Amino acid sequence: MMNRRQALSLSAVGLLAACESANARGQGTPTPSLHELAQRKGMRFGSAVGAGQPGTVTASLDDPRYREILARECGMLVHENELKWYVLRPDVNTYDYVRADRVMDFAAQHGMGVRGHTLVWHHPRWFPEWLETHDYGARPAAEAERLVVEHINAIVDRYGDRIDSWDVVNETVDENTGALRETALSRHLGHQEIIDLSFHTARAAAPNAQLVYNDYMSWEAGHEQHQAGVLRLLEGMKARGVPIDALGIQSHIGSGNSDDSVGFDTAREGNWRRFMDEVTGMGLDIVISEFDVHDKNLPADIPSRDQAVAELARRYLDLMLSYPQTKDVLAWGMVDSYSWLQTHWVRPDGIAKRPTPYDAAYQPKPLRQAIADAFIAAPAR
Ligand code: XIL
Repeated sequence: MMNRRQALSLSAVGLLAACESANARGQGTPTPSLHELAQRKGMRFGSAVGAGQPGTVTASLDDPRYREILARECGMLVHENELKWYVLRPDVNTYDYVRADRVMDFAAQHGMGVRGHTLVWHHPRWFPEWLETHDYGARPAAEAERLVVEHINAIVDRYGDRIDSWDVVNETVDENTGALRETALSRHLGHQEIIDLSFHTARAAAPNAQLVYNDYMSWEAGHEQHQAGVLRLLEGMKARGVPIDALGIQSHIGSGNSDDSVGFDTAREGNWRRFMDEVTGMGLDIVISEFDVHDKNLPADIPSRDQAVAELARRYLDLMLSYPQTKDVLAWGMVDSYSWLQTHWVRPDGIAKRPTPYDAAYQPKPLRQAIADAFIAAPAR
């Protein structure tokens, strides 16, 4: 006969086994969370979240199941679009903080940190139309400077006490040539000057925050010019005494993010290590700021697609986390159905992509396990 205690402990074992196999089948949110695993090694884990047009791929914050995953897995958040000029500042006189505030409020409710993305997305494609056509008047350099300084001060004044890391400038290096991109601001102010001004202004407004240059140079073949251009930019900034603390490596890995990309996993690891050595050798920290694994060119079969995505992620994260300068890891979305990659560079077969840690049914995928395993294997910092 089994006594009551034995029966209880047996049922506890049964429950545990049921939970474990539920996790193995992908039910529920596994424990420990990704942020807990990161914290054990002196890092943080978080994700992008969107408060965009309701019912679209950019409105993940509206979804209670998405919010639940964020609350359980993440120690920090980043606005997917809500801090960008074209969302926050529809014209020269209007600052519309409603969407950005929603993300800040959710982070505050859950005690999460927030990264600020981004003060100046210096890329013509993402530049607000009005900033190109604005009347810069008789002293265009002074007017361009006024606009940038006013913008940075306004955003940092509003959120600076809750944001401890800013993508001050995003994507200003042309991936094909390595040269600095041109916009109305840089035409009036100078290409380097607009970058330097942004960092100096951010430092004055946020003396204790981490100031980051963020870009998408990556380890794939074809990124050599981009890497070289970013290194030149960083070296120049350091030489001029511009206040920069870290390089944000977006880390959209996998199939290259372009219409003509045909490959998956064209990683050049040796070359990438040299790039990482150069960046960290300048005394800069690293932020993995927008991690996802693009499966555009993988075969449709789901188990093998998920496996390939997870394996590539693990290899990448092992390399990146081997640098103690890498402290924050942010996924660019936690659930496949809200990934920006669903609407950018669609697959030739038109089926849904699987670039994030959770599938469209909110179940953890092998990619989630790969991230967990990378944190577990990472040296402490
Ligand atoms: C993307 C968003 O995810 C999309 O919703 C939007 O349409 C375009 O921007 N690099 C960045 C991010 O720095 O801001 C981009 O986010 C993805 C690439």
